[in-house]
Amino acid sequence: MANIIDGKAFAAKIRSQVKEDADRLIEKSKVEPCLAVVLVGENPASKVYVGAKTKMAAECNIKTKDYKLNDSTDQETLLKLIKMLNEDPDTHGILVQLPLPKQIDERSVIDAIAVEKDVDGFHAINAGRLSIGGDMLNKAFIPCTPLGSLLLLKDNVDDLTGKNAVVVGRSNIVGKPMSQLLIEESCTVTVVHSKTKNVESICSQADVVVVAAGRPEMVNGDWLKEGAVVIDVGINRIPVTKEDGSEGSKIVGDVDFESASNKASKITPVPGGVGPMTIACLLRNTVTSAYRHAGLGDPRGTVDSESQDQYKEKYINH
Ligand code: GUN
Repeated sequence: MANIIDGKAFAAKIRSQVKEDADRLIEKSKVEPCLAVVLVGENPASKVYVGAKTKMAAECNIKTKDYKLNDSTDQETLLKLIKMLNEDPDTHGILVQLPLPKQIDERSVIDAIAVEKDVDGFHAINAGRLSIGGDMLNKAFIPCTPLGSLLLLKDNVDDLTGKNAVVVGRSNIVGKPMSQLLIEESCTVTVVHSKTKNVESICSQADVVVVAAGRPEMVNGDWLKEGAVVIDVGINRIPVTKEDGSEGSKIVGDVDFESASNKASKITPVPGGVGPMTIACLLRNTVTSAYRHAGLGDPRGTVDSESQDQYKEKYINH
């Protein structure tokens, strides 16, 4: 049976580091880290995420400003709000919750956010910096879900160098940035997606599998190499019939946990794996942004929970 990777506990550790970093900044520089969260419309999942972000930010001494706009908001109104937030010196991070209603062009909105406040890391320039890698990572913001997945992997795999990593899914939010982070860690990376042939045989070569396919329980134990480390990014609500015959639902990942945990050496559960890491990384990016705005270096290495100096020593000076 695989060891279960406790994302909930690891995320709590990251948040306590974020709080320490925020407190140090408040005390030394009198700067209060502040995140603006913009929610357009009534998407129920988005409302839950935004609520959780606000609560956890407060626990880390990060201020939040919530902007709730109605479903029929036009693009111009949203762009005006972003411009105002870009120009507000007290706002260090801007998050526009996705998806946006269909009358709004998502890419135009994301690219209107000031690059240095784009704590989601979705702006084309931040995506470019991640793609270039190396020193450029110190200027970039890395998307929160892949960053959280990488931190979990680094905490659970001694050395990623030379490992075969397969990323299932090619989204801009997870699959693509994840593949770039793994390349940066010197993995041999293969990205598979809905049009890939022989997905199962490709997965069965992998030492590390990161699954962000958006399909409930798609990857099962037969696809995995014995001893693989599995990171399940999926969050899917599926219908179930309860013991008393009534209809209910439950949350599952993109990995069939039961069969996969018979093959994997380590695996993230859903819920309690990658999910809590996403918000922890958003808060981490927000505090990093506040440090950068105050003219200070990043409080932690970009893709590590070590200090910037330790990070430089390990990855840049060699
Ligand atoms: N919707 C789903 N995940 C995310 C995320 O990480 N950031 C934003 N802004 N929207 C999302």
